[in-house]
Amino acid sequence: MLTIKRLSGKDAAFARTALDALLPPDWRDGPLPSVERLKAILSDRRIIIIIAEGDNSPVGYVSGQIAPSLCREGDTATLDDLFVSSASRRRGIGKALVRAFRSEALMMASRPLSMWSGTGADNAACRRVFEAEGARAVDETYKEYVWDVVTD
Ligand SMILES: CC(C)(COP(=O)(O)OP(=O)(O)OC[C@H]1O[C@@H](n2cnc3c(N)ncnc32)[C@H](O)[C@@H]1OP(=O)(O)O)[C@@H](O)C(=O)NCCC(=O)NCCS
Repeated sequence: MLTIKRLSGKDAAFARTALDALLPPDWRDGPLPSVERLKAILSDRRIIIIIAEGDNSPVGYVSGQIAPSLCREGDTATLDDLFVSSASRRRGIGKALVRAFRSEALMMASRPLSMWSGTGADNAACRRVFEAEGARAVDETYKEYVWDVVTD
């Protein structure tokens, strides 16, 4: 049976274990956050982290946050990560996670609320999930920039 739940501060140890079980090496950017740090992250109610579990083991997660827009009234919910383990794909879990993220954002955010995410133009699975869940593709010309990690 699939269960989908939003995590809070008391779920920090579970979050650490779930992320460790789910994330393949190419999704990791160094060591995962500690349980203490996850507790602080999950205690911030504007950060949304939702885990999908099947038969008591994690099968996917979605994460993102709500922030105020400075260009208009209301908030923007940004969906940052969406991941379903390869053995559990194409069973509707990705769509269910996006739906759960939207519901949580709707419960908490100031109106009007817009929701935003992005994915690679060649990521057919993710594009299908977003479009199936009501997102409209915005065909902007977009170049991504990254600042290297600052360690000092
Ligand atoms: C993207 C991802 C989360 C989709 O999860 P999922 O649980 O397989 O998605 P769902 O089962 O909910 O599928 C939703 C729809 O997408 C379609 N779909 C899934 N995989 C697809 C693929 N590889 N190509 C085309 N369509 C695909 C499904 O058929 C379904 O379509 P439908 O609504 O017409 O029935 C999963 O493939 C994944 O984790 N990929 C790696 C991480 C990633 O790329 N994340 C997104 C970028 S941040």
